[in-house]
Amino acid sequence: MDFKLTDEQQMIQAAARDFARDEIAPVASEFDASGEFPLATIQRMGELGLMGIEVPEAYGGAGLDTIGYALAMMEVSAADAAHGTIMSVNNSLFCNGILKHGTEEQKQKYVRAVATGEEIGAYALTEPQSGSDAANMRSRAVLSDDGSHYVINARKSWITSGPVARYLVLFAVTDPDAGARGVTAFLIDAERDGYHRGKTEPKLGIRASATCEIELTDYKCPVKDRLGEEGQGFKIAMGVLDAGRIGIAAQAVGIAQAAFDASVEYARERKAFGKEIGSFQMIQAKLADMRTRLDASRLLTLRAAWAKMQAAETGGRFTAEGSMAKLFASESAMWIAHQAVQIHGGMGYSKEMPVERYFRDAKITEIYEGTSEIQRMVIARNETGLR
Ligand code: CAA
Repeated sequence: MDFKLTDEQQMIQAAARDFARDEIAPVASEFDASGEFPLATIQRMGELGLMGIEVPEAYGGAGLDTIGYALAMMEVSAADAAHGTIMSVNNSLFCNGILKHGTEEQKQKYVRAVATGEEIGAYALTEPQSGSDAANMRSRAVLSDDGSHYVINARKSWITSGPVARYLVLFAVTDPDAGARGVTAFLIDAERDGYHRGKTEPKLGIRASATCEIELTDYKCPVKDRLGEEGQGFKIAMGVLDAGRIGIAAQAVGIAQAAFDASVEYARERKAFGKEIGSFQMIQAKLADMRTRLDASRLLTLRAAWAKMQAAETGGRFTAEGSMAKLFASESAMWIAHQAVQIHGGMGYSKEMPVERYFRDAKITEIYEGTSEIQRMVIARNETGLR
């Protein structure tokens, strides 16, 4: 076993770290306060290849591997988790699924636009009545009589980047009697007739990553914009989420790293009872546990990224590795951010420092792309084979 990163992995890590320090960290708190979408930095990230890290250069991406993607996500999310969210949806949920299941024409059109940062992508699975029970969707797609297009009527909620996304991967039922096997994936263009954006969600954290409802009314989707075959949609959705969860695990590691670094610095400087608080055993115990959970999260995340790379060669799955990484890293990030607030005392509760933002941002990693409860279910099902 070799823990050494390749030259390319070190290069993307350093590039993401420099960009995050110089261009994201200085504006993170301002965008968190306003809730405005950080379009300028996202477009710059696209120019640098950060919106399509695993996308081959032929489709406008950086052509790197999943470990490189996870490392870059950690760096960006340490500066600002909201930028990390937007980056993860473009990379994992949008580009990844089209690369795997799309036609050459779809890759040239949709992947290129999002990987280069010219357009923003989104992933529309969740509906008002179906979050964790993703197969229980009501959105309908009906093939037209002449077989040229589908007529889609859909209502999707909690769509990350929805207010600004031009293109979406959207899931709808084509065969209502077939359950999960009756779901089909479609590529949607927000500029076509029948596409409407609904209310924007006011959120606790990742506030600069805009989230809204989407409604499609008699939207005509050309058959060439169907992703994969009819009835394959649920498996496409699940496979895409397997990869997406590695990105969210990496995001959680980034948030946890930022919270940990701030705590070490504060423990070195802040004095109480005539000493630096870092010399008190109760603070030392917190820092030791934080660092250990942080490293374990990072290792699980990189292991999952490696498993995805192996699966690409063998055709196997990496579902459990992705779920374990997301489960552990997200719960650790929440715990580490909680400890960081405690170590900072009153300053941890103040908006003058970023620690309270890490605390708010960490929470979403336990919820989106499958709650911790869903990850536990996926991991246990994988072990027992029982449903
Ligand atoms: N890869 C490929 N196929 C898979 C799969 C995977 N990871 N998981 C399941 N499948 C297949 C199954 O093999 C089965 O196929 P067959 O019909 O051939 O047997 C089919 O899909 C149905 O599987 P299940 O019966 O296991 O499905 P289920 O209804 O019990 O649900 C679940 C499984 C794991 C709970 C799933 O619904 C799930 O992951 N729920 C969470 C949804 C989620 O993560 N939502 C996040 C929304 S997106 C988001 O958050 C984005 C954002 O904002 C950033």
